Amino acid sequence: MRPNGIVIAIDGPAGVGKSTVGKLVASRLGYSFISTGKMYRALAWKALELGLGLEDEGALVDLAEALKWAFPKGEGPEAGISLDGRRLELELTDEAVSRASSGIAKLAGVRLFMLGMQRQAGRAGGMVMEGRDIGTNVFPDAELKVYLDASPEARARRRVGQLKAQGTEADYSGILDFIIKRDAQDSGRKNNPLRKADDAHYLDSTEMPREKVVESIVELYKRLGESGK
Ligand code: C5P
Repeated sequence: MRPNGIVIAIDGPAGVGKSTVGKLVASRLGYSFISTGKMYRALAWKALELGLGLEDEGALVDLAEALKWAFPKGEGPEAGISLDGRRLELELTDEAVSRASSGIAKLAGVRLFMLGMQRQAGRAGGMVMEGRDIGTNVFPDAELKVYLDASPEARARRRVGQLKAQGTEADYSGILDFIIKRDAQDSGRKNNPLRKADDAHYLDSTEMPREKVVESIVELYKRLGESGK
């Protein structure tokens, strides 16, 4: 038993809505929420800023260990992220950072560093954590695991919608191409690839509105209580 509640692991490909859904689920349950992708993004952002080689595993691990990582509490359920006292927000959504984060996430040493931080952050429970390997690697003992999926086309359409809503030009085929490449990189890597845990619930959100996805996860959570787990 964990003191603050269970761990809910949400894994799935890029752009499937894991963060939005995870935050809403966490709000409903009074849980905290962590997007582990932001940890990889933060390290990638810092490495780009310093001009480090993105294949240089030793230098990247040294950098990760030298930085002061903090996860300050925000207004909502999501913890923020700061490196050496600098709060990171929009920097992390940059396309170059997205690409670089997916690249450095291949490296075993980087993953090991992140694993330690992620386990520490979630060990007390009361946590919704999303990423690629939460149910398979970070919390293989998570009480509830969800693998959230949607077709690449549906994810690209949603992204175009988001960008247009922000008044940004969006190129559907470029975005689709980017999503397919990131899927291949995340699923094809040797170290902790994106994969559904055997005991994860599979939710295909291609045709499912977001509220329905949230409702399904909350329902799974309630059923867990009823079964006495
Ligand atoms: O989820 P997000 O797109 O922010 O993640 C950025 C990158 O970090 C992903 O492309 C993925 O390669 C990597 N990642 C990972 N394991 C996680 C979370 C993210 O490898 N648990």
